[in-house]
Amino acid sequence: MRTDKGQIVNLADYRPTDFILERVDLTFELDPTNTKVDSRLIFHRREGVDPSAPLVLDGDELTLSGLLFDQNELPTSQYDATPESLIVRDLPASEPFELTITTYINPEANTQLMGLYRTNGIYCTQCEAEGFRRITYFPDRPDVLAPYTITIIGDKAANPVMLSNGNFLGGAGYDEGRAFAAWFDPHPKPSYLFALVAGDLGVVDDTFETMSGNEVALKIYVEHGKEARAAYAMDALKRSMKWDEERFGREYDLNIFQIVAVSDFNMGAMENKGLNVFNDKYVLADPETATDQDYANIEAIIAHEYFHNWTGNRITCRDWFQLCLKEGLTVYRDHEFSADMRSRAVKRIAEVRHLKSEQFPEDAGPLAHPVRPTKYREINNFYTTTVYEKGSEVTRMIATLLGESGFKAGMDLYFERHDGQAVTVEDFVTCFEDANHRDLTQFSLWYRQAGTPLVTVSSQYDQSSGSFTLSLEQMIPATPGQPTKEPMHIPLSFALISDNGALATPTAVKGGEVTGEVLHLTERQQNFTFSGISPRPVLSLNRSFSAPVNLHFDQTPTDLAHIARYDTDLFARWQALTELAVLNLTQGVRDLKTGKALTCDPAFLSALLEAAGDETLEPAFRAQALTLPSESDIARELGGNNDPEAIHAARQAVLYAVAKEGQPLFLRLFEDMKPAGAYSPDAASAGKRSLRNIALSYLSYAEASHARAAEAFAAADNMTDLAQALTVLAHRFPDSTQATEALETFQSRFEGNALVTDKWFSIQATIPGAGALERVKQLMADARFVASNPNRVRALVGSFAFSNPTGFNRADGEAYRFLAEQILAIDQRNPQLAARILTSMRSWRSLEAQRADHAHSALMQIERATVLSADVRDIVERMLK
Ligand code: ARG
Ligand code: ZN
Repeated sequence: MRTDKGQIVNLADYRPTDFILERVDLTFELDPTNTKVDSRLIFHRREGVDPSAPLVLDGDELTLSGLLFDQNELPTSQYDATPESLIVRDLPASEPFELTITTYINPEANTQLMGLYRTNGIYCTQCEAEGFRRITYFPDRPDVLAPYTITIIGDKAANPVMLSNGNFLGGAGYDEGRAFAAWFDPHPKPSYLFALVAGDLGVVDDTFETMSGNEVALKIYVEHGKEARAAYAMDALKRSMKWDEERFGREYDLNIFQIVAVSDFNMGAMENKGLNVFNDKYVLADPETATDQDYANIEAIIAHEYFHNWTGNRITCRDWFQLCLKEGLTVYRDHEFSADMRSRAVKRIAEVRHLKSEQFPEDAGPLAHPVRPTKYREINNFYTTTVYEKGSEVTRMIATLLGESGFKAGMDLYFERHDGQAVTVEDFVTCFEDANHRDLTQFSLWYRQAGTPLVTVSSQYDQSSGSFTLSLEQMIPATPGQPTKEPMHIPLSFALISDNGALATPTAVKGGEVTGEVLHLTERQQNFTFSGISPRPVLSLNRSFSAPVNLHFDQTPTDLAHIARYDTDLFARWQALTELAVLNLTQGVRDLKTGKALTCDPAFLSALLEAAGDETLEPAFRAQALTLPSESDIARELGGNNDPEAIHAARQAVLYAVAKEGQPLFLRLFEDMKPAGAYSPDAASAGKRSLRNIALSYLSYAEASHARAAEAFAAADNMTDLAQALTVLAHRFPDSTQATEALETFQSRFEGNALVTDKWFSIQATIPGAGALERVKQLMADARFVASNPNRVRALVGSFAFSNPTGFNRADGEAYRFLAEQILAIDQRNPQLAARILTSMRSWRSLEAQRADHAHSALMQIERATVLSADVRDIVERMLK
């Protein structure tokens, strides 16, 4: 394990390498425990570099077994090799030279899943961010780009499939029992995009014809027998390729594109050039085993990795501080793709829910960092929701500021100007400035300042002059290392809605820039005055969530209900309903705390049920409206001193009130919303199922009975309905025999299907209440729980810590101590996974004092451990600061 040496990497220290890498030629002789890697590298010294400067290559847990200089043995006095580096001295001043480096690595023993490892008998790699240095000594940084030639030699019977990046050169028998395959990737790439896969896999084949008529072979590799479950992924891939041509003018650039699904993977997937490697959870699907959400995730992630071919691979990052350059932009692209494939408004609602529940807490806690950080200790810990999702929001704001054609002009310039380069966020922003003759200096603060801006809003209407004045004030909270902030450029989409529901158009605006529907808040405090407005309008602000900010705006329930009914932006209607729900939920928590009976505002109930029953609205939207803010959403809204029990109780009470009031509607929806015909994962059918299933959940409150859910469980003919019914049974009636039986039926029906077993684990891990910890402990002893598999660990331990507020935040702190032990155990095998799961405690300071105290001791327990990976140490120390 790589432990922490306390070094901090600073953006300000960036400098280019002394040597330029011209070519990479790798030969792998595969062996499960002793793979030989020969690496031939051709370098020359960069012009102007000190002729005595040594060549420094990175390593991680490596042993050097051979080193040749221009094919000759090098005297040991000329180099130093440690597990972490290889330093070679006395190299030529300017002419190119060749180094041949030999290392032996043990894929079987690689439990970190970084570098070359084995999963279910398959060799596979993960090199981003710094995994390549676990294979061979190398300048392992994203600004070193070269073409790669790869030769793989392996046991013929065990490895009928041997893959790497680029185009296939050829393959044949090699010697007794062994075969070789050779690949060449002509596109210069950094080492983090290298991939190798070998083993015995099934394949699904297809082709795609690109816009200029090139035929591309498409291949998805899965375990034998699972081929049929890759059909949806293949379809999503072809749609992604087409969409990127039409929307961004981006064409694929090799004659083959391959995807491999593996069962042990730290993240979702990886965009290696021409050879994407996926967590099989995001490839495999069929109606019996995958939910609508699984299908949507597959579509989005297949697209995401494919889109990286241009935003990430053809144009890559200069250094890891620029990670959002590829991730934020590519998330934006996959969001747009899904919006075009599905319902734009519903997709936006789901994005914003995710952003607020994941990124906002990160930005408000000890792990807050700018979208473009300036220092890190462990880069793996910066694959965060801030870099990805807030990074995407920042890209979206550029599109909002410049408009569709201005954004396109900037993107076109970016692709043209930087193709083949490793660049920075500044390079990216400059393209939009140059293409639009616009200064984005203030806007760029979004990349540099952490923290979610708080915009305080008040308004005044003057009947006699028909003027409406809006006062806005922005405040960006202090975050680690950033005590004070500059005012930012916040684009706020808005509408003024008249009492008859029509949108009012002002005759004039004073006080700041307004372009179309967007108001530009650029000062700390700013007043906008709109004239020619009569009668008093209702302001709808931050429509479509044009800026990732918190709004503090004391809008009356009547005004919110008005927006919920009339806004032409569907997102804004959802937002108003959510705001109404939040008012009721937070008041409910306060009432409970002071011993008052909880009452729901009738205006909220009727607005909610009106939207839910409105047949002119798509079912998926109505389901989103009915999905109340989560317990952690409520905690975030309350802001501090949080008692998860009280939050849970208040939310349950509101659910009950909605269920009672809407019972006839829910009965109707449950009857009417069953899609006709065979299961289809399309958005419209999925929307109906989601509305029907949320109706089922409300009915379980209204009827106070498990009967309907038990029937639905028995009748379900697809995983979406089955898992939903099971969740209602297990979460609402955990002690009923029906719940126990359903859990058993579910497990035995899908015995041997690990991805379905994960659903079984996480449904049980998220059963509310203090009993959850015992349940989780028991499930960890189940034979189906494989501690070395990240998906299993995330499904059980991760779901418990991230998604079971009452169970995890037991008042006695037992679950925090349990998590601390788990983190230390997981850390021994897989530091990245341990660090990720530990971030579930990032909001510990907003708990009430007793729980916060327990959480603090659990974190201290981790911090005091004698052996701790760099990954976990970084997280735990930042959380304790
Ligand atoms: N680049 C990948 C993606 O977002 C994520 C890989 C992250 N890997 C890691 N070890 N941190 O598509
Ligand atoms: Zn990505």
